[in-house]
Amino acid sequence: MAEHDDIVNLAGDLRRAVERGDPDEIRAAADKVRAALDPHTGSEERSLFAQMRKDPEFTDHIDSLCREHELLEGHLTRIEAGDHAAYPLFERLLRNHIDREDNGLFPAAAIALDGPDWEWVTERA
Ligand SMILES: [Fe+2]
Ligand SMILES: [Fe+2]
Repeated sequence: MAEHDDIVNLAGDLRRAVERGDPDEIRAAADKVRAALDPHTGSEERSLFAQMRKDPEFTDHIDSLCREHELLEGHLTRIEAGDHAAYPLFERLLRNHIDREDNGLFPAAAIALDGPDWEWVTERA
């Protein structure tokens, strides 16, 4: 969840860069979002999501979260390519995705995976 805060803060920097409209600043800010977002989503998919997907009760939910990772990636790529109008939807998707994890999946995982032993969640395979 701390990584979520970092990503949201970096997205805020990107929003302000988009508002100012300097393409170099926007690209630099987008690079920083990507540098935080890509390892985060990759780690989720290799650790928590991989564990949760084994439970048929969560498979569809995990699949939808993975599709959102792809959508976020696609929107960030559009912004990097100069489509700055893609930013507002990127931020809405990001905030909604994080809300689904923080307030949906993570509490469910704590119960389904036998308590608050989160050590394996942070493994970076
Ligand atoms: Fe995620
Ligand atoms: Fe996440």
